[in-house]
Amino acid sequence: MDSSTGLTGRQRDSLERIRRREDAAFHARVPKSLALDARARRLMPGGVPMSWMTAFYRTPTLWVSHGSGASFTDVDGNSYLDFNVGDMSTVLGYAHPRLTEVIAAQAARGVQMFLPVEPALAVCEQLRLRFGLSQWQFTLSASTANTEALRVSRVATGRPGLLLLDGKYHGQLQETLWADEGAGAVVPEATGLGTPPDDLAVVDFNDLDAAERVLRARRTAAVLVEGVLTNCGTVLPDDGFLPGLRALCSRYGTLLVVDETHTQFDLYGGVVAHYGIAPDLVTGGKGIGGGVPIGAWGMTEELAALVGSQLGDETGATVGIALGGTLFANALSLACTEVVLSELMTPAEHDRIARLGGRLADGIETAARAHQLPWRAHRFGARSGYCPGPELPRNAREAHRDFDPLFSDTRRVYFANRGVWEAISSAGPHAGFAHDEADIDTYLGLLDDLLDEMCG
Ligand SMILES: Cc1ncc(COP(=O)(O)O)c(C=O)c1O
Repeated sequence: MDSSTGLTGRQRDSLERIRRREDAAFHARVPKSLALDARARRLMPGGVPMSWMTAFYRTPTLWVSHGSGASFTDVDGNSYLDFNVGDMSTVLGYAHPRLTEVIAAQAARGVQMFLPVEPALAVCEQLRLRFGLSQWQFTLSASTANTEALRVSRVATGRPGLLLLDGKYHGQLQETLWADEGAGAVVPEATGLGTPPDDLAVVDFNDLDAAERVLRARRTAAVLVEGVLTNCGTVLPDDGFLPGLRALCSRYGTLLVVDETHTQFDLYGGVVAHYGIAPDLVTGGKGIGGGVPIGAWGMTEELAALVGSQLGDETGATVGIALGGTLFANALSLACTEVVLSELMTPAEHDRIARLGGRLADGIETAARAHQLPWRAHRFGARSGYCPGPELPRNAREAHRDFDPLFSDTRRVYFANRGVWEAISSAGPHAGFAHDEADIDTYLGLLDDLLDEMCG
């Protein structure tokens, strides 16, 4: 038995054999993708327009033709029932008819104005209903929403520092791509980042004492936290962790910024509503526009007053907080987001997909038990995933210990060859708004088949 993954040597040998066979089958199914890849490598690094499109997969790059509902189809005509849901960017599903109508109507009226359009008001109202904050600003991605929220935090507190929780991912912003090296030092998680920002600290999730040791110095402008970690599998907060973080922030004059980019799709109102916490700022983006780019950040009335009082002008005569972008808050983003949040991602629909997520998690545990595997499932509303052991992780170190690339890569290619697109390995399968119970059962049926072969 391999203690880190709960798999025996024999099961790992089976996985190696399945993986080789399935990789060959995958190659044979995607000749047009392979041909496009060969052409694309002469035009784009790695043959892709955006590096994650190849970096996240161990199979050759799949080129997509179109999508509809819960599935997309590649250029070779193979369809895939999608449980990656675009890492939350396509959680609505593909080509939703109502969204298609809104996009067409907005295209006919102009997609970009560089002035406010009325749907912004309804979007703010929808976000207030979810997260309790009434004042909002818009960007084009969650990364830039986080950038702006942190800038406002620095101005509001007059402090430079930032506290992050290990296992986080908050986007492409320079100041969050760092990991703890021990003894308070940080190391870059990627190249090209330059020197670390001032007073940046990274502590373990669920470790309030470590957070307090940093905050006590009163140099930290903001704690930026995903209330449930979703980028190293799923790590849930202990009872008292989020309220404790809130209390520490209030005690030491630090702002609490909750990143709901993923968790807002797990449950209606995300972790803020589920755990009943009152953040100073909330950030998000990804699928709230149904796949049309948008980022959003919300703030308290007090912070809104500060932002409103520091709006810079284009001549430089008034120096304001470094916010905004030419295409941010464009008419198309806001029109789509209004309809998605008010008509399509309703509380009832959120409840429905949270039940589907529960069905996924229950099914993963049932399938594991039936094969004498001592596994648990990650679960948070519509989010699910694999924990290859009896104890759920409490922090990123424990979550990373559970990663098993052989199992996740074999599962991905095995499922792909049978018409299911599995989540990237840092996440788990997620129920989306276009899924139904039969889709969940299709996924679980394949899992049973794979485990039969792995354990047989
Ligand atoms: C929690 C969280 N915040 C922010 C981001 C950044 O989102 P985007 O890449 O859309 O800017 C991500 C992306 O995965 C994320 O997982």
